Amino acid sequence: MRKINRKAVRRVLGGILLLGGITGFFVWYKFFRDVRVNYADDDENFKYGSIANEGNTGIPYLIWKALPELCPQHLPGPGGYASLGMVYEGREAPIGISVRTIGFPRAAINCAFCHVSTVRDEQGGAPHILLGATSGQLDVQGYTRFLWACAGDPRFTPDGVVEAIRRTEQLSWVDEQLYRHLIIPQTRKALLQQRDQWMTWLDAYLPSVGHRRPRWGRGRIEPFNPVKFHMLRLPIDETIGVADMQPIWEMTPSVQGNYSYHWDGLNDSLREVADSSALGDGTTLRSFESDQIRRIERWMTRAAAPQYPYAVNRALADEGRRVYVSAGCAECHDVGGTRYRTVIPVDEKELRTDRFRVQMWTPEAADAYNRYAEGTKLDFNRFRSTTGYLSTPLHGLWATGPYLHNGSVPTLWHLLTPAERPQVFYRGLDVVDRKRGGFVHDAPDAPELARKGLLFRYDTREPGNGNQGHTYGAGLSRDDKMALIEYLKTL
Ligand code: HEC
Ligand code: HEC
Repeated sequence: MRKINRKAVRRVLGGILLLGGITGFFVWYKFFRDVRVNYADDDENFKYGSIANEGNTGIPYLIWKALPELCPQHLPGPGGYASLGMVYEGREAPIGISVRTIGFPRAAINCAFCHVSTVRDEQGGAPHILLGATSGQLDVQGYTRFLWACAGDPRFTPDGVVEAIRRTEQLSWVDEQLYRHLIIPQTRKALLQQRDQWMTWLDAYLPSVGHRRPRWGRGRIEPFNPVKFHMLRLPIDETIGVADMQPIWEMTPSVQGNYSYHWDGLNDSLREVADSSALGDGTTLRSFESDQIRRIERWMTRAAAPQYPYAVNRALADEGRRVYVSAGCAECHDVGGTRYRTVIPVDEKELRTDRFRVQMWTPEAADAYNRYAEGTKLDFNRFRSTTGYLSTPLHGLWATGPYLHNGSVPTLWHLLTPAERPQVFYRGLDVVDRKRGGFVHDAPDAPELARKGLLFRYDTREPGNGNQGHTYGAGLSRDDKMALIEYLKTL
């Protein structure tokens, strides 16, 4: 029998281990090495920081960046993601997109995605960026559909994508092989899977309603049905929960439940609202980073609402304040008002706004969320189902139009004058309407821009889009209304 050469065996074994080690390191480095993104400045952190959702929902950044080049035909206009309303300020990625390396750079949305906006004096004028605002120009559904359409496009092949990436980036040979054989096919698969999953409800016909769910359009999303159907795994139902964005400046924490949050007041803990917002954006119970979410929570309580940037008639605004108090607005909308930030029953005679949004968040959904993270550091307890809408804060109101929970009323004048509310109007312009309050909604070229998908044609006759209700102040004289609007601009 040949004598076993121990030395040789040891050498071979050592070699295999070393090779295994190198392979392991390579795999870890190329796919799992997690580089946290830290910005010392709080605003930078809000705009570009990570909420730890890149591992779950991130798109490989090089692919993400190349998609508008690859599939311009699936965008509403030139300019890449800006045509969908994303806000750029000179950096490569827009505000609201964090880029975090987990093996390779991945792009995902953060809170600023839906909580930033621009305003301008006139069409074509220079934009001013408002942090913590309502992303009134952003077409979130349009963005998602763009990603799905591009993934399903015949151009989305390893060759096509690599070529598009190469227009701005250099790829090493190794990276190119990884992109070609793993990352690009996997990204395509994941996007198409997501499309198929969402399509089971997003475009479905709802027999009990006799209609499909309305398009979200610019500045709106369905915030909670995706959570119900995909995260809490509740059965798909026929509810419609389309909602306008809310601003998150001047957020005051609730003391023993005195304040509620979200349009229907479905939770009365600011902490739970911040945590669940992250989960809604794709953060998982495992990836959740509480220091970052606490930092954003503090940011929201400190962020000041922006001042109205144009001249205000002070005497008229003072008169408007008197109207505001005598018409009862202060009771519900002033910080410290007896009914401020509480849920006003939708059946209350003068409220009676569209009911779809509040009916979407069922007692079953609230229970499921309260059970969802039991035993973890994210143990939720404060979710509930309500029967009304929040008497919202009005800070920075001049910059948060259109108004009401579904964004169905274009201007403050229309809010105070229900008989004149338009049946159809256009959302997505950021030009301030200095006379009526809110944004310009009836520019002459709006229908044309809407046909291209650059603005959203809002039809109040679709279910969930109703513009009825909130008739407080409707009986005021025209002069009182103009004074009241002047005051509302100063909030
Ligand atoms: C995809 C868009 C989107 C993203 C991203 C997003 N939000 Fe929101 N946010 C909304 C919408 C829409 C509402 C109103 C939803 C409703 O109640 O129907 C809202 C409401 C809120 C509110 C309640 C405001 C109030 O006055 O009651 C808070 C607080 C909030 N968001 C914080 C966050 C935080 C923190 C993050 C990041 C972890 C975040 N949001 C990410 C769209 C978004
Ligand atoms: C009984 C409480 C109550 C009174 C009184 C009241 N409101 Fe409201 N207000 C609400 C509720 C609730 C909502 C949210 C309704 C919805 O979105 O469906 C709301 C919404 C609004 C909004 C839209 C906010 C946004 O961000 O879209 C404005 C503006 C507003 N109210 C102004 C007024 C003015 C001005 C008055 C007085 C003429 C007034 N309200 C009186 C309860 C009240």
